[in-house]
Amino acid sequence: MPIAENPVAELTGVAGELAAKIRNKTARAGIVGLGYVGLPLAVELGHAGFEVVGLDVHEGKVAEINRGSSYIQDVPTSQMAPLVASGKLTATTDFAAVATLDTINICVPTPLRKTKDPDMSYIVSACEGIAKHLKAGTLVILESTTYPGTTDELVRPILERGGLRVGHEIFLCFSPERVDPGNPKFQTKNIPKVVGGSTPACAQLAVMLYSNALDHVVPVGSTQVAEMVKLLENTFRMINIGLVNELAMMCGRMGIDVWEVIDAAATKPFGFMPFYPGPGLGGHCIPIDPFYLSWKSKQAGIEARFIELAGYVNGQMPHFVVDRIAAALNEHAKPLKGSHVHIMGVAYKRDIDDMRESPAIDVAHLLMRAGSKVTYSDPFVPKFVVESVELLHQDPITSAAEADCVVVITDHKGIDYREILDRAKVVFDTRNALKGVKSEKLFRL
Ligand SMILES: NC(=O)c1ccc[n+]([C@@H]2O[C@H](COP(=O)([O-])OP(=O)(O)OC[C@H]3O[C@@H](n4cnc5c(N)ncnc54)[C@H](O)[C@@H]3O)[C@@H](O)[C@H]2O)c1
Repeated sequence: MPIAENPVAELTGVAGELAAKIRNKTARAGIVGLGYVGLPLAVELGHAGFEVVGLDVHEGKVAEINRGSSYIQDVPTSQMAPLVASGKLTATTDFAAVATLDTINICVPTPLRKTKDPDMSYIVSACEGIAKHLKAGTLVILESTTYPGTTDELVRPILERGGLRVGHEIFLCFSPERVDPGNPKFQTKNIPKVVGGSTPACAQLAVMLYSNALDHVVPVGSTQVAEMVKLLENTFRMINIGLVNELAMMCGRMGIDVWEVIDAAATKPFGFMPFYPGPGLGGHCIPIDPFYLSWKSKQAGIEARFIELAGYVNGQMPHFVVDRIAAALNEHAKPLKGSHVHIMGVAYKRDIDDMRESPAIDVAHLLMRAGSKVTYSDPFVPKFVVESVELLHQDPITSAAEADCVVVITDHKGIDYREILDRAKVVFDTRNALKGVKSEKLFRL
């Protein structure tokens, strides 16, 4: 039954005791995995008044937190340091701390294997670490993005190994993380939090915990629904980006400006939402999460054909970009082989320092394989390794003047793209950073 239709029951016994601790904020909150997702959540729970213990296998991160210094761009040290100084936030690599905790949020990575199968090893190892020290009266919430069924089919049996039963002595939920690093408007605190529990009591406890720290909590009827919500959101983005990338390739052939097409379509006040093409998908989520769904749906006998197709189209984009760079250079009587191409922006999206799955890696790799000399500039990324070659950030203006072609892969703010165009011989703009500008040496995706 959807929890919204389920009248909130009075929690009794172990659940009732835990509810009281969460209500009066004497519950000790644990966060396992202190990365882009875990650290902001740890800080929000600390600001809400909970004593927070962070657990991570990375000794460097643990030491940095205990020094009061943040390594996550969205968590200013000025916000975190007072929590550390007051003893409200501590970090450790020792899972024995689990025995002192009342709530635990798991925020460990969920990458794909080379075969595009889910890599559950981080979740399994975190749960095994937790299970060894788990005590009755603990709420465990998985936040890592994963396939539907993970919480009840994989996490639950590990946590129950010691004889504690979910819904009786321990409580289990899934709550997808929606954080968007670098987004100045929406951060952990004001992004609505979806929660599904293994039992209604589990969900009730998690709703209570999050409601203390976050602005809006959205309960759903099961852990599987909560898991699927996240996959729907990211699959929606991935497929729509695949669609506009395909449109960009068609428009390229037909000599139509795809950016103008999308902007004009976006004037329709209903039934259309703009997505923009680009050099390929990047980041920890959009290129990866939909394959969790296709993997699981294959087991249920359904081929996720939209996902496979969008994955194929998006995967072609770095090749398409390099072909277009070659064509642009050709128009200026310069072959790609032996040319100097300067990449502007290598992080996977604007104004962040995250390189995970960045399309810049593929574009640089393809350019090097084609015999080009590659340089790059990115104010957020001081060095970048391609084909075992370590590249260092260069001054964009000087490099633009020296290179045969400048390719804008990530359009960080605060860069004068017009000046880049003035200095450059050829610019290939994959992000419409030079919107509205017309020039014989400017080529757009
Ligand atoms: N980064 C995002 O924008 C984002 C957004 C929404 C959801 N997610 C999802 O959230 C999850 C975490 O992502 P992230 O970006 O925070 O990853 P991350 O790599 O930044 O952080 C994960 C942390 O977990 C630690 N870790 C790994 N194994 C561990 C273990 N066994 N025990 C304790 N700690 C361990 C790592 O050392 C690291 O500090 C992933 O499932 C991801 O898909 C990420």
